[in-house]
Amino acid sequence: MRKPIEHSMPVLVVGGTGKTGRRVAERLVAKGIPVRIGSRSASPSFDWENEATWAKALDGVGAAYITYYPDLVVPGAAEAVDTLVKLALAKGVRRLVLLSGRGEPEAQRAEEALIASQADWTILRCSWFSQNFSENYLVDSVLAGEVILPVGDIGEPFIDADDVADAAVAALTEEGHGGQLYELTGPRLLTFAQAVGEIAAATGRDIAYTEVSYDTFEKMMIEQKLPADIVWLLKELFTVVLDGRNESLTDGVQRALGRAPKGFSDYARETAATGIWSN
Ligand SMILES: NC(=O)c1ccc[n+]([C@@H]2O[C@H](COP(=O)([O-])OP(=O)(O)OC[C@H]3O[C@@H](n4cnc5c(N)ncnc54)[C@H](OP(=O)(O)O)[C@@H]3O)[C@@H](O)[C@H]2O)c1
Repeated sequence: MRKPIEHSMPVLVVGGTGKTGRRVAERLVAKGIPVRIGSRSASPSFDWENEATWAKALDGVGAAYITYYPDLVVPGAAEAVDTLVKLALAKGVRRLVLLSGRGEPEAQRAEEALIASQADWTILRCSWFSQNFSENYLVDSVLAGEVILPVGDIGEPFIDADDVADAAVAALTEEGHGGQLYELTGPRLLTFAQAVGEIAAATGRDIAYTEVSYDTFEKMMIEQKLPADIVWLLKELFTVVLDGRNESLTDGVQRALGRAPKGFSDYARETAATGIWSN
């Protein structure tokens, strides 16, 4: 058992209504720890696009979980994280936990900025979240019965957002995680075709996986009138991050939590039971 960290002041959870932030906030509240959500819809509002909103969100806060939006792969993300970290330190907030991504050079620059600071830091460098299939842009494709992506036989060790949240909460509430970079992956490499197959099996529905060229994928995104910055982001994620560089497993969940990570089959079974993938 690690020694607990007492929290009399709220913990700021940036992106506290998102995939990992919501889970982190729920877990902290369940422990009786006050939480301040940092997002555009929160009060006070926190907007990564508007630096003037950051100071108020940090007022009177004891620690922070930092998730950048839309993605740390975006140019300028590292500078924004660096500025927020410096502001937090100036306000006396030292315990900072950063959500990062595997295989993203810009994310590694954000990590370096945090490591170089005077913060008592922990970094969660994560693989792709399983929840992208149920709480993000892939849910519509699953519902439509066909997931179409420009990704072939690349194995991705999908990580469950519950494991990321457990690791974030451990880092925020227990001694012994300061100065630790936890690279978090699930227990198994799955291609996107295999992941979709697991979801099909769990739901009992026919759901196809179709690999297309990046050019075809880009045409589809343009036809769907996705904004240019989102098209750029998806290109980075599907062609750079998913080029095979992350095709390996790590022991990060075991190191952070002393247990094995949750597998994709369990995620698919539990999520199917919620009915979210039923038409
Ligand atoms: N998804 C993955 O597979 C994955 C894997 C590894 C690392 N990551 C990293 O995780 C981070 C979050 O990605 P995610 O996909 O999981 O997103 P997410 O946390 O689910 O994003 C939604 C959250 O962001 C908030 N938000 C949206 N725009 C914002 C803005 N301009 N300013 C402040 N908050 C804003 C939303 O609240 P409001 O709408 O109220 O603002 C909501 O709380 C990224 O930095 C990414 O690099 C993601």
